Amino acid sequence: MQFLTLHEIAKRAKQNLDKNQWDYLIGGADTESALKRNRYSVDSWVFRPRILNEVSGVSANTELLGVPLRIPVVMPPIGSIQVFEEGGGESVARAAAEFGVLQILSSVCTPDFETLAERVPGPRIYQLYLVGDEAWMDDIIERSIAAGYTGFCLTVDTQVYSRRERDIIKRHVPASGREVGVADFGYQSKMTWETVEHIKSKFDIPLVIKGVNVAEDARRCVEMGVDVVYVSNHGGRQLDHTRGCIDALPEVVEAVEGRAPVLVDGGFMRGADVVKALCLGASAVGMGRLQALAMAAGGEAAVAQMLGLVEHEIITTMALAGVAGLDGLNRGLLEKADPIVPTHVLSAFPHLEEEGY
Ligand SMILES: Cc1cc2nc3c(=O)[nH]c(=O)nc-3n(C[C@H](O)[C@H](O)[C@H](O)COP(=O)(O)O)c2cc1C
Repeated sequence: MQFLTLHEIAKRAKQNLDKNQWDYLIGGADTESALKRNRYSVDSWVFRPRILNEVSGVSANTELLGVPLRIPVVMPPIGSIQVFEEGGGESVARAAAEFGVLQILSSVCTPDFETLAERVPGPRIYQLYLVGDEAWMDDIIERSIAAGYTGFCLTVDTQVYSRRERDIIKRHVPASGREVGVADFGYQSKMTWETVEHIKSKFDIPLVIKGVNVAEDARRCVEMGVDVVYVSNHGGRQLDHTRGCIDALPEVVEAVEGRAPVLVDGGFMRGADVVKALCLGASAVGMGRLQALAMAAGGEAAVAQMLGLVEHEIITTMALAGVAGLDGLNRGLLEKADPIVPTHVLSAFPHLEEEGY
């Protein structure tokens, strides 16, 4: 199947998944306000395009942690991604490697991090949920270094598991039991700044902290030597009623003062959305549900096509905004405006609604 628009990928995903799988992919926590607000916030930045600049050779090539990225996009960790296509993390790994973006592998999906490293050599980042004590964590970090991982990611917005009411109402237990794989959240909930200090003092692997929302925490991260600050509210799946992540981005970028790359995710579904985050100072953007939708639409091949379409949209957006390279993107190209359509998790694809999806 050849997808010519991201809309077609979302539509095929919906057709391929049953209700439980769909709700797991698309849902959020509690009232799902944070989930909707992510999209609302992305939609509430509009372009102030510049004219008469040569844009004949627009490039969106960049790098993260020394790894070349064909576009400033990362594939964020998705637990139980094998639910959407049986290849799981391996399908994403192959598509990401072939296309040229960085995958962050979740510790709660298959295949496991060591098997995957053997089958599809990196670069790749490993995201770990703590389900053991410090010695257990240290062992996993050592093994991820030995397996050749480029970076290690701690997700810090999931110290307890949220209430995902779509699942609870149906009495549905997601494939991994929970996204973290166990009901007992003991070790995640004990994680503190000392955990960060411990990892930085003991291990020589770039550390990504995923789930930063405010300037104070971002500043503390860089002061402790964190290598990548990742702004995220877990796609609206953890704490409800947070700001849209793109609105948290400027204060984090300001606090980091260029001392570390800043990633952001939450509601980014289109190439133009990525460009907006870059204008506000992000180094790259995570596209979580879009990755999952592509997996559900057609596994590795669809993820590769999705990345190609996002690239096309990024380059078209940059050219039409009058910018030939990533270094030309800045805050002056954007301003705030009210969204003109009611926003929700899939409102980036308006034709879905017209077609009754
Ligand atoms: C189905 C699903 C599973 C996820 N599993 C994980 C996970 O295992 N670890 C993690 O750090 N984040 C996880 N996330 C959050 C994503 O990494 C990312 O932060 C989020 O999807 C970004 O928002 P977006 O979906 O609007 O792009 C998951 C998200 C989804 C949609």
